[in-house]
Amino acid sequence: MSDPTETDETAPAFAAPLLAWFEQQGRHDLPWQRDRTLYRVWVSEVMLQQTQVTTVIPYFERFLARFPTVTALAEAPLDEVLHLWSGLGYYARARNLQSAARRVTIEHGGTMPADLEQLHALPGIGRSTAGAILAQALNQRHAILDGNVKRVLARWAGIDGSPTRPATLARLWALSEALTPTERVADYTQAIMDLGAMVCTRHRPVCDRCPVRSGCVAFRDGRQRELPTPKEKRNRPKRSVHWLIFQKARAVLLTRRPNQGIWGGLYGFAEAVDEESLRKMAKARAGGATVPLYGLPMVSHAFTHFELQIHPWIGAVDAAAEIVESDSETWYNLDCPPELGIAAPVSALVGKLRSA
Ligand code: ADE
Repeated sequence: MSDPTETDETAPAFAAPLLAWFEQQGRHDLPWQRDRTLYRVWVSEVMLQQTQVTTVIPYFERFLARFPTVTALAEAPLDEVLHLWSGLGYYARARNLQSAARRVTIEHGGTMPADLEQLHALPGIGRSTAGAILAQALNQRHAILDGNVKRVLARWAGIDGSPTRPATLARLWALSEALTPTERVADYTQAIMDLGAMVCTRHRPVCDRCPVRSGCVAFRDGRQRELPTPKEKRNRPKRSVHWLIFQKARAVLLTRRPNQGIWGGLYGFAEAVDEESLRKMAKARAGGATVPLYGLPMVSHAFTHFELQIHPWIGAVDAAAEIVESDSETWYNLDCPPELGIAAPVSALVGKLRSA
């Protein structure tokens, strides 16, 4: 086959068998496939950006029960939004979702815009997500190119080059455009994502079950393992941080992090760059008293661009000690925890202390 991006004659040969497969094998009963409004599909697509369907489902149900409309989301306190997001990770998604909801309320009178450019202009909605929302909610014809689709298309058309390179991306977008049918776009969009998630998986794709393998270059040439071309490996730089866990009986002191930066707006432990500053911080916070500190084993947390090595320290403070809450601090009761957004490693440490 010549370069499939040169012609759109290949479109029916791809979409038709894919749609037939979707009828039989695809997912049809996901919560966001019921009552497909722009708002519901938008929330689902943002949750699904870095997270698998099975994890997302209960979060989606709780989120929609609490924030059934874009206005409800816009009016909610950020803490509550982050609380409902706790455990899903990548909290910028939640902050963006809410700031987008606020913009929809102000700029679009509370109605989600049914237009690619206007959706794309909102925080946290990239080109592919904007296309996926409009395709699934309104059957509008837009191409999408998320991670699953990049893998399917790179294999099917034998496109070499890391999908992070602009030239490769441009070819993948052009192919995605060419293959997107003019009808049943909602089903097609879900079908190609399902194919990537269920058949054309990163490791051990199940080509026997693939509806489009007869046209697939990677299958023909046995190159499924080489395609898509892996990104160049970069070593994640390491950063280290020391956390102060003031514990008084069955409560630990949590501090709200600034809205900017990692885990923005979530609650966590007070933080210092090294042990010495941590000791000084503990003393200052305890009104000058020396608090004995016990180091816990280091915990490592991987972010996209770096690895955070967390050194937790327990400072057991006397029940009589006067450490009073401030606006941004709260004594978090381990046995009846308040509803706060907390980051995954904080939640893991809290869990350990609860059962200790
Ligand atoms: N990933 C992103 N969007 C998705 C969807 N609608 N279904 C399954 N996986 C997805």
